[in-house]
Amino acid sequence: FKIPEIKNEPMKTYPPHSEERAKLQAALSELRKKAPIEIPILVNGQEIRTDKIEEQRIPSDHATVLARYHEADPATIDKAIKGALAAKASWEALPFNDRAAVFLKAADLLSVKYRYKLLAATMLGQGKNAWQAEIDAAAELIDFWRFNAKYAQEIYQQQPPVNAPGVWNRLEYRPLEGFVYAIAPFNFTAIGGNLPSAPALMGNVVLLKPSPSAVLSNWIVLEILREAGLPDGVIQFIPGPAAEITEQILKSPDFASLHFTGSTQIFKKLWKDIGNNIDIYKSYPRIVGETGGKNFHVIHKSANIENAVHQTIRGAFEYAGQKCSAASRVYVADSVWDEFRTALLTEHAKIKVGPVEDFTNFYGPVIHKASFEKIKSYIEWAKGDASSEIIAGGSYDDSKGYFVQPTIIVTSNPKSKTISEEIFGPVLTIYVYKSDDYEKILDVVNETSGYGLTGALFAQDLHAILLGQNKLRHAAGNFYLNEKSTGAMVGQQPFGGARASGTNDKAGSPNLLYRFVSMRTIKENF
Ligand code: ALA
Repeated sequence: FKIPEIKNEPMKTYPPHSEERAKLQAALSELRKKAPIEIPILVNGQEIRTDKIEEQRIPSDHATVLARYHEADPATIDKAIKGALAAKASWEALPFNDRAAVFLKAADLLSVKYRYKLLAATMLGQGKNAWQAEIDAAAELIDFWRFNAKYAQEIYQQQPPVNAPGVWNRLEYRPLEGFVYAIAPFNFTAIGGNLPSAPALMGNVVLLKPSPSAVLSNWIVLEILREAGLPDGVIQFIPGPAAEITEQILKSPDFASLHFTGSTQIFKKLWKDIGNNIDIYKSYPRIVGETGGKNFHVIHKSANIENAVHQTIRGAFEYAGQKCSAASRVYVADSVWDEFRTALLTEHAKIKVGPVEDFTNFYGPVIHKASFEKIKSYIEWAKGDASSEIIAGGSYDDSKGYFVQPTIIVTSNPKSKTISEEIFGPVLTIYVYKSDDYEKILDVVNETSGYGLTGALFAQDLHAILLGQNKLRHAAGNFYLNEKSTGAMVGQQPFGGARASGTNDKAGSPNLLYRFVSMRTIKENF
């Protein structure tokens, strides 16, 4: 058995009056009709219902409940841990091909059978427009499943190159001893899918805590995996109160790994908690996380301004700036500032914000009230700050949904609050630098924020490109030249960053899969 040749899943484009658009609209209407969807806990293949029920609401229409999910209590978590460990022996003993077949089948099921259903859940539940949902919940998740299978097969084939006479050296890629704990974010359905799937593919068992704001799409992903043949107990689905659940799980001696995507602050806290519990564990846990960012675009005087503006609008405002990779700080050379500003304001004026069921909206709501309030506080701060000028946007309205207009701030302070702190919303801050100070501004870009996720440099001058590439070497794990800071593709640009942005284990690469195996070397004399 060889994994078939893998290509990126072709993306659908949902043009007006097309069959694919009609199907997606039908899926959206059906979901509206069926809401609220009831979501159980899933442990050992059994659906469990508790009397603690929480709601996932539609962020563009927060009076409407999309899903009602049951929350796991301590006894259920205990059962989930024991059940996962019990399921482990037969899952890890399966030949790799049989494990891979589950995820390849899931990819095909999502591609042909569940695409519209998962897109509708991602659109209504997480506020993504159709094209952003397609990139995420269809293309990226399918690609994760397929490329991971290909990379895993290559890993298992790697063996020591030298065997002395009479000796056979070999490497065994054991799954971790214990279970993996995966904590999913709201902003990518694909990440909620990959967090449990990548370790499970390598023979691990996983407890998945879905995101409360993406619980429906996380649940549909699990349904797809079950239909594809995932055995009971391999991925346990345990929605519930994050702090309590996590505390209980991190106290298990069998906790072997954290696979996390979410905020820097929570990741650091979990890292410390794991450190405090270190004497409990049977092995040093593998800690794998993708966290925050304060991603930059640098516009050199030689840049193609039309392209730089177009990419900046998309990088900053698609999905309301809620991609961890979104551009939120821009440094523009003063010699091109007038041209950049005029074009930026022209493009900005075309952005329509509103519910994603209306396909003419460029982006939808932000995810929830806490996020809305946080973004609002940054905008209000800028209004009162002498070094900041809001040149576009600045308004917001949460009467029906959590809508924030695309906001552009120009600051004369390169260390200003909005240019250095993560906001996670449609707020872009610009600093205009003297064209001749290009080298100095690269230092500023490098030293501002403490994050290292993504960044982009727009320039046509080769010297400027090489200088930027060198000086910003640690400022971004995904670095783009003449292209926006978002939109990494599995199989093309493995994704992740270092510094406060994560462990940079690169989702969509063999490196991530290596984190979930613990090798054994066997030397045999014969
Ligand atoms: N992988 C996503 C992107 O690059 C986060 O935008």
